[in-house]
Formats: sequence, C-alpha cells, structure tokens
Amino acid sequence: MPASDLTRRDLLTSVAAAGVAGAAAVAAQPARRQVAIGSVNALAAVKLTVERLSAGEPPVDAAVAGVGLAEADPDEVGVGYGGLPNEDGVVQLDAAVMDGVSMRAGAVAALERIKHPARVALQVMRRTTRILLVGDGALRFARAHGFVEENLLTERARKIWLYWKENAAPDDDWLPAAAEAEDPDLRWFVEKYGSSYFRPQGTIHVSALAADGGVGCCTTTSGLFFKLPGRVGDSPLIGCGLYCDAEVGSAGATGHGESCIISNGAATVVEFMRQGKSPEAACLATLERVVRSTRAAFLRDTEGRPRYNLNLYAVSAKGEVGGASTWSGAQHAVCRSGEPARLLPSAYLFKRPAAD
Ligand code: GLY
Repeated sequence: MPASDLTRRDLLTSVAAAGVAGAAAVAAQPARRQVAIGSVNALAAVKLTVERLSAGEPPVDAAVAGVGLAEADPDEVGVGYGGLPNEDGVVQLDAAVMDGVSMRAGAVAALERIKHPARVALQVMRRTTRILLVGDGALRFARAHGFVEENLLTERARKIWLYWKENAAPDDDWLPAAAEAEDPDLRWFVEKYGSSYFRPQGTIHVSALAADGGVGCCTTTSGLFFKLPGRVGDSPLIGCGLYCDAEVGSAGATGHGESCIISNGAATVVEFMRQGKSPEAACLATLERVVRSTRAAFLRDTEGRPRYNLNLYAVSAKGEVGGASTWSGAQHAVCRSGEPARLLPSAYLFKRPAAD
C-alpha cells in the first residue's frame, strides 16, 4: 500500500508495531556502557573518566581529565608535578592523546615546567595540524595557549634525586650525608620502589570507551627515573604508549618504554584485536612479540628473560577489557558506568622472582 493510502489509524498501528519490534531489538542487545581501563595508579582516574563520559564528554577529553589527577598529585612521582627528574635534576614530561573516531592525535615530549602535559597534548591535537612537539617548542606552544609555568621539582623529588646522584658511583665527587637514608622522604621512596627487581618508573595510561562507541586515550609520564637528559620513552609516541581506533578499541602501555617502542606496543595490541583477539589475548600476544624482540644482552637476565616490565591495557569497541604484563604481580584499573572502579590482576608471561 502506498504511504499516501495509509489511514491515520493504520499509521499509528504500524508505528506502534515498529516501536515494539525496536524495543525488543534494544532489549536483546545490552545497552553499551561507558568503560575506562588504565594502569594500576589510575584507579581514581578511570572513575573520573567514566563520570566525564557519562556527562557526555568525548572519550579523549574524559581520559585527559582522569590522568590530570595524577599529574597534579605530588605523591605520584612518575607523572607530572612531583615527577622524578632526569639525571641533571630537571623534570621533563612526556604525554600524548589520541581520538579513535577522527584518528587525530597530539603529543609533547621533554616538556619542562608545565604541570599538565596531557592538556598541552590535547591542544596540539585540536589547535595544530601536527602531532608531536618537543622541548622548547612544546613549552612555547604551551605558553601561547595560556599554560602557566611552575617549578615541578618538589622537595621530596629533589631529595630522592640527590640521594640517587650521591650513590650512583662510588668514586665520583658527590658524598651522601651521614644519616641521609633516614630522611622520611627517602624512606618513603625506598619502601615504595627501592627493592624492585627492575629500575623503577612511573607513567599513567587511560583508555576510554563512550556509550556511542567513540574511543580515546591518553598516556602521561615524567619518564624513566633519572633518565638521560632529553631521553623520550614510549608514552608520547603514537602507536607505542597509546593507540586507538573506534573500529576496534583502544590500548596503552606503561613500563619499559624502549621495548614498547621497538614493538609499537599499543598499535600492535589494537591490530591483534582487529584480527579477533580479546583485549587480554591481544596484550599477551604483543608481549610475546616484545620478548622475541628483546635480543640485547643488557635487556636479558641470566635465563634470557627480560630485565624489565612492560604493562599493556586494552578495551575493545564491544566494551571487553584486559591487561597483561611481562611479569606477574601487576594490576590494572577498570571502571564501568554504574559500578565502582576496581583493580584487577593482569595476565602475565613470567612469574616474578620470589625475592622481588
Ligand atoms: N613508559 C614510560 C617511559 O618509558 O618513559
């Protein structure tokens, strides 16, 4: 029957029938919820990210808001304000963002004196035609956008750096003070990081999935503790410390940056998900590839295993989440709308040495 021949009653009946069929289809498919996954230090960040997603913010903005908590936290010594400095005692920050709908990204590296590098990276994505700004150029760009410069080296971070410097070599000119190791700030650091089997490093990652299927992600860090001045890790490199594509999902990395760079860690996770692997299986498959690429002797222990930890996190476009690490004992943070944020154990390749 041509539409013009429909009576008002026919029309109302057919619309009602369509409504019932549509409602049945919606009921058969669970409504997609907002999801965020991140590193172990991102528990508060994933919660805030999901709150922002629920308020309608784009995923990349929500992720940047989430990691901003860590960037401003002086106790988070691997990220932003209070981050541990490089070999010279200078705090140099790296961060990147990516939007998986537009496939645009922004990043900054070796940025000094700006507390929220992730927010600067977001401006690079939105307010330039480029992706990565480094060093003084990144700082000048941040200034142009109204970011305020400040001293990021907290007193605690300075003391930890000085202690490291004084104890780094037995025959240089630096001498530790007699009771320096008793300082509460140093004791705090040694308790938190000092006995680790691996060289400690910070970094926070958040990947976000919106209810409409949009994805975005952000990674931000002060990098390897006491790094070579100018050293840049995986965090601000698109495809390494983070990557997303709304057709597939989003992924990110924390831990040993160089091994992640060599294997394009986050992009590899996304490609494995594109081939059909679950987020956890994609992270594990990527780590296996990373380990196969770990050929330099200085990166391998006496049994040929990696002398570093790399942590990967992923969320699929369907809302599945997963995380995996080279070594056992790691966790990742997950939050879904309507549920509390939680820490979940990550899958792993190797059992961590008992003494660690
Ligand atoms: N994954 C952080 C870094 O290596 O700097």
